[in-house]
Amino acid sequence: MNSFNPFSLENKNILVTGASSGIGKAVAIACARMGASIVLNGRNVERLQETFQEMPSGNHIVAPADILDSSSLNGLVNAMPSLDGVVHCAGVANRVPCKNITQSDIDFVMRTNMNAPMLLQASLLSSKKINKGASIVFIASRAAESPSMGNAIYSASKGALISYAKCLALELAPRLIRVNCICPGMVWTELITKVLDEDTLREAEQKYPLKRFGRVEDIANLVIYLLSAASSWMTGESINISGGGEGVLV
Ligand SMILES: NC(=O)c1ccc[n+]([C@@H]2O[C@H](COP(=O)([O-])OP(=O)(O)OC[C@H]3O[C@@H](n4cnc5c(N)ncnc54)[C@H](OP(=O)(O)O)[C@@H]3O)[C@@H](O)[C@H]2O)c1
Repeated sequence: MNSFNPFSLENKNILVTGASSGIGKAVAIACARMGASIVLNGRNVERLQETFQEMPSGNHIVAPADILDSSSLNGLVNAMPSLDGVVHCAGVANRVPCKNITQSDIDFVMRTNMNAPMLLQASLLSSKKINKGASIVFIASRAAESPSMGNAIYSASKGALISYAKCLALELAPRLIRVNCICPGMVWTELITKVLDEDTLREAEQKYPLKRFGRVEDIANLVIYLLSAASSWMTGESINISGGGEGVLV
């Protein structure tokens, strides 16, 4: 039998935020299938347990916490084993025309999509929870570069995350810790179905060259690559994955 597998995640501890839903859920399950032990974070305990039930057995930890709350975040970090990988997947979206943007609209998106991953990452690093040679992955978005109506705050949050990740990659390179972003186009999850109606989405889907939006597994497979030794020369990058589309939804 051929045992060649450059994508193995055996013996790795990996934290996945947003593991209670959508892309994060698929990432947690896929990484566990590749041999990793997963720390599953989200706020909804019941949904985290559902993810946990779908994973092969292992030393997985269900770690509910609101990453916007500093004391919850500290508790999460303190309870964390040493990590070989982090997937920052928790995120929110809204659709507000630029002329109507309020401070609370900005706070809603920026606090979750930008502040929380930066502060969680800072806390993990200062608590020495990130092992030498680890891989850190941020789920950004094609929206960072691909404008669509009403999506300004979300696009800005992902653009900020990409810029931040490039700086983080430089700072962590001496310890061979790699940092990369994934920029998906539209992927069928609650994030898009909650803010856009189905007819709009189905019409936009047909504009994608491969005639479909992404499946959560499409993104999980790319995460596996970035967490594994197969990508050991990749850092400071952001990778588009969008079925050949721009990710545009005007
Ligand atoms: N779907 C797309 O088309 C698409 C495209 C590009 C990028 N993305 C990005 O992919 C990531 C995952 O999105 P998704 O599509 O999978 O959305 P989703 O199904 O709505 O999942 C969002 C996740 O974020 C978690 N979360 C939100 N706020 C949190 C908080 N304060 N503390 C802890 N967890 C929190 C949610 O957990 P709880 O509800 O349990 O708190 C949930 O697990 C996001 O960063 C999103 O911007 C999505």
